[in-house]
Amino acid sequence: MRKAFIFILLSIYFLSWSNEVASQERINLNRDWRYQENDPDGTDSTLHYSRLKPYLLPCANDFIKSGQKHIRPAGNPGGEVAYVKPDFDDSSWRQLNLPHDWAIEGPFNIDYVGATGKLPYWGIRWYRKSFELSPKDTGKQIYLDIDGAMSFSSVWCNGQFVGGWPYGYASYRLDLTPYVKAGKKNMLAIRLDNPDDASRWYPGSGIYRNVWLVKTSPVHVAQWGTFIRNKEISTDKVVMDMTLQLENNTGKSVQASVKTDIYEQDETGNPKGTKVASCPAMKVKIEQQATTELQSGFVVPNPKLWEIESPACYVAVTRIEVDGREVERYQTPFGIREIEFTHDQGFMLNGRKVPIKGVCMHHDLGALGAAFNEVAAERQLRIMKEMGANAIRTSHNPPAPELVALCDRMGLMMQLEFVDSWHKGKRKNDYNILFDDWNEADMRSLVRHYRNHPSVIMWSIGNEVHDQVTDLGIEIARNLTAYSHDEDPTRPTSLGCNKRDAIYRDIVNQVDIFGLNYYHKTYPLFKEQNPTRRYHASETSSATSSRGEYFFPVTKNVNDSRSGFQLSSYDMTTIGWGCMPEEQFKMNEAYPFMSGEFVWTGFDYLGEPTPYNKDLTNLLNFSDPVELEAAKKELEELGKIKTPSRSSYFGIVDLCGFPKDRYYNYQSYWRKELPLVHILPHWNWPERVGEVTPVHIYTSGDEVELFLNGKSQGRRKKEHSYDRLTWDDVRYEPGELKAIAYKEGKQWAEQQVKTTGQPAALSVNPEKKTLRNTGTDLSFVRIDVVDKEGLTVPRTKNLLKFSVSGPVEIVATDNGDATSFVPFQSHEREAYNGLCLVILRSLSGKTGEAVLTVESEGLPTKKVSLQVVADVK
Ligand code: GAL
Repeated sequence: MRKAFIFILLSIYFLSWSNEVASQERINLNRDWRYQENDPDGTDSTLHYSRLKPYLLPCANDFIKSGQKHIRPAGNPGGEVAYVKPDFDDSSWRQLNLPHDWAIEGPFNIDYVGATGKLPYWGIRWYRKSFELSPKDTGKQIYLDIDGAMSFSSVWCNGQFVGGWPYGYASYRLDLTPYVKAGKKNMLAIRLDNPDDASRWYPGSGIYRNVWLVKTSPVHVAQWGTFIRNKEISTDKVVMDMTLQLENNTGKSVQASVKTDIYEQDETGNPKGTKVASCPAMKVKIEQQATTELQSGFVVPNPKLWEIESPACYVAVTRIEVDGREVERYQTPFGIREIEFTHDQGFMLNGRKVPIKGVCMHHDLGALGAAFNEVAAERQLRIMKEMGANAIRTSHNPPAPELVALCDRMGLMMQLEFVDSWHKGKRKNDYNILFDDWNEADMRSLVRHYRNHPSVIMWSIGNEVHDQVTDLGIEIARNLTAYSHDEDPTRPTSLGCNKRDAIYRDIVNQVDIFGLNYYHKTYPLFKEQNPTRRYHASETSSATSSRGEYFFPVTKNVNDSRSGFQLSSYDMTTIGWGCMPEEQFKMNEAYPFMSGEFVWTGFDYLGEPTPYNKDLTNLLNFSDPVELEAAKKELEELGKIKTPSRSSYFGIVDLCGFPKDRYYNYQSYWRKELPLVHILPHWNWPERVGEVTPVHIYTSGDEVELFLNGKSQGRRKKEHSYDRLTWDDVRYEPGELKAIAYKEGKQWAEQQVKTTGQPAALSVNPEKKTLRNTGTDLSFVRIDVVDKEGLTVPRTKNLLKFSVSGPVEIVATDNGDATSFVPFQSHEREAYNGLCLVILRSLSGKTGEAVLTVESEGLPTKKVSLQVVADVK
């Protein structure tokens, strides 16, 4: 009897071993979740983080010492709560797909904090999902990979507590193996507890990034367990080092054979063509329940370097064999390039000086909220690249993994940032409450996750942390840099500092590159202070404007509260600590050692509607006492009224991605080869006939002649390439403004701006007319309210109504107005200064023609058709 039992056990073991598929399976787990607010009645505080902490911290420790399982206290916290039980009936809960951000559903509330978008992001929420494992999964290692859940997530599987991760921007892995049943239905329950007063911007909420189920052999590459870096680059070959961490989760030691082949990467991140290099096969013994590290390498002949203009990428395919059978296949996308920050010439890519033309970006996707969507993220990057940006700073947190892969493929460099607060918080419940316990795991996680990506050029260990001027801060900076170097010795660390005094403290010696937020006027002083130090401009400008708004008289205003909480697009307004783009360009040219800049910000984002945010802590950023007093007074006055603003004015483009005038300032300077001339303002000022109405022009040329109704207003020449040209004495008369730009004496570009007639039609333009039927593909549709000649009417606010037929749905609408409380999900919205945006999403699995209908009273209804096609990927 006993022998038979052992025989059956052995058979199951060998059967399962031979059933294993050769490659790691990574299954998207986004569909069909159940969702509910709050804990069940009667649940006491057992689920509070302070109680769960002893069970959660081993997750951090497991991660730090990859592969080592740290002891958890005995017990099953929360096991008694109904929602975690596998047989709990959740059929009345709301059904939804991930990624999901509950707060973007609103409603906006004027009494909520503007800094976090006046949206309800805090609270407790539950997500449940069942998933099947096949009998063939017996003996496999089963992981749950969560790219981001906001925040304080705790996970149960089949009623057993598994672990979790509190930092909402972290990607993390949990081992489900001990809790799952092969051949059966399994149940996941995830609880989020998003604290209030936790952020200076809109943090979002929910399981807002992708979720994956990973099935591997128990002998496999550890999570993010590969590291590929160049050792020597010459024109005809590159010598690469490769480190591999292998895990053996079986109860016996194994002899494994490991081999890696290198391929060029296709546009989906997968290998293309025949292999271009190989690491020699290596034999290795991995002890039971242990991790081992292998050093290897390969030579790529005639390597294609990763360049901004031609971002060549490779992929390493690692195969592990045990007993002559392949048990694991693992892909590592990487690129080959050399980076260097110098103390005199700034940043070098592949030995060539490349000024950083960077933009800071918060993680939200405008009307879609924090819910990650790759198509929307790619659009944001495309708009920034089209403007001439070559770098993104993920302010102030780790990004979604797909964003980094997109930057690899699109040729955008990245500064990845860890966090906005260390030990000393900026908000009661921001990262300061986690810092002591989690900083090492979170810092290492960011670096380990992204260290193979060619787009990443540096790690930022923090942004304007209040500890930058404390002794503890020095120690923290030293530790974070050490963790970062330990995970990745090839990239420098930086810290974005906004306290001038930080430069006189030892903290500057704890990072490789000192990041200066603002203080553009002090670059020479910093250079003098330490001529061989490496610096970079981690944050610049903070100019503010609302698309299509122009105020008169045209003056430079720090806080301009006229015109319904909008800001003038004459582009004269910055925050006290910032400067206009051209002032920064001037400093970048004069002090190339600063490497370029990261502008605050590329896109408008939800929250932080400075100056209309009543946020007194921002006053700390003013260094000039006169400005400080003025801002204080202004904010106090504003405090007496309720402020409707719920998204930022900092963006170079608005929340929809529509360019503000500033966009053309950057484009003309960053893409000097692009023939461009841009006139502002619009020319619809019936109330200003005969009044001085200044005209400003951005151009990539060097000279411009301006005409009003055919009459020259004079030809102006730039003194510097960054100058804007201004005609401050133009008197308004309706008609046509025309600008002719010249470069080196030759005609270079031309633009007309005409006074338009009344709204007469709708111009509906999908950015993309064919969608894949993935259920996640999007088309952004721009609607212009136009006159009978087809010119966009600049100041019009017609109410538009949207409906669709066919295999698409309307996910969101927007118009770029930072004060609008119309829910983003609404199918009705006013145009804002002539424009509106509808975001359409394909329905999963359905194909055919879809039609978007746009109606507006008094205007002909407009229908536009799109095609939804089968996904071939
Ligand atoms: C910076 C800060 C950013 C943002 C910006 C607004 O000091 O790092 O997060 O708040 O100010 O100007």
